[in-house]
Amino acid sequence: MRLREKVAVVTGAGSGLGRAIATRLAEEGAAVVVVDVNEAGMKDTVKTLTDRGFKASSAKMDVSNRNDVQRAMQAIIAQQGHIDILVNNAGVTRHRPFLALNSEDWDIVLAVDLKGVFFCSQAVAPHMISRRYGKILNISSISGTGASSHAAGGSQAGNANYASAKAGVIQLTKTLARELGPHGINVNSVAPGFVLTGITAASRSPEEVKEHIAARAGMTALGRTGTPEDIANVVLFFVSDDASYVTGQTLYVDGGRGDRM
Ligand SMILES: NC(=O)c1ccc[n+]([C@@H]2O[C@H](COP(=O)([O-])OP(=O)(O)OC[C@H]3O[C@@H](n4cnc5c(N)ncnc54)[C@H](O)[C@@H]3O)[C@@H](O)[C@H]2O)c1
Repeated sequence: MRLREKVAVVTGAGSGLGRAIATRLAEEGAAVVVVDVNEAGMKDTVKTLTDRGFKASSAKMDVSNRNDVQRAMQAIIAQQGHIDILVNNAGVTRHRPFLALNSEDWDIVLAVDLKGVFFCSQAVAPHMISRRYGKILNISSISGTGASSHAAGGSQAGNANYASAKAGVIQLTKTLARELGPHGINVNSVAPGFVLTGITAASRSPEEVKEHIAARAGMTALGRTGTPEDIANVVLFFVSDDASYVTGQTLYVDGGRGDRM
């Protein structure tokens, strides 16, 4: 049990990767606080965890709203006594070809995927500094450093907003690591490759999803797409004391994408 006595806040844990991360951290003994805007999803995650005998609770929070984040994080600290681990995982996409991208598409993706990481980290950092202990793990993406030309399976060859936000997360990870490192806080990032979750399936027909999975699998050295557990296992490493001397890093967990190696 690598996270006994630890309290972990996981944003966007009402589904997909966040749910898998919350589960993996709970399996290692952490008391997990499931954060999301989707109340039904949060409840499902908490029920799945508590049914297995794990410690889990939920906190509704819109990561793109600074006041909401401040209020909710303070309430979590008051209720749990402390926060040891913050996983900034909440994210949205609005993929469109560049010429069709409007201001709203840009703003919502930057607000949730990048500003949300800023707001949540800034709300928790003073508390972590006061305890001289903390792990912040940001979920970026392979889209943060490479622009894939793949357009099969309903993929719109356009994610300028998302790629910009995720590139920002990678750089924010490095700057936070530098500023918070002297206070005993590790800040790292995991950049997933393709994993089938709601975010991928939402904008595609079932046939397109199949075509998309086959195309993405073909781009990896390992010949398969990722699972939420593949991502959660690596997140666990970073937020545990096994990674005590690692900070400012982004690790690509993408099955060995040939177009990025
Ligand atoms: N699935 C992939 O292939 C993949 C690849 C690379 C990176 N990612 C990243 O992984 C993270 C999780 O994505 P996922 O695939 O599990 O998608 P998902 O849609 O299943 O999960 C995202 C969660 O974030 C929540 N959320 C959205 N806006 C929010 C807000 N304002 N405040 C709080 N919660 C909010 C959603 O309700 C949802 O539960 C995202 O940051 C995504 O960009 C995913």
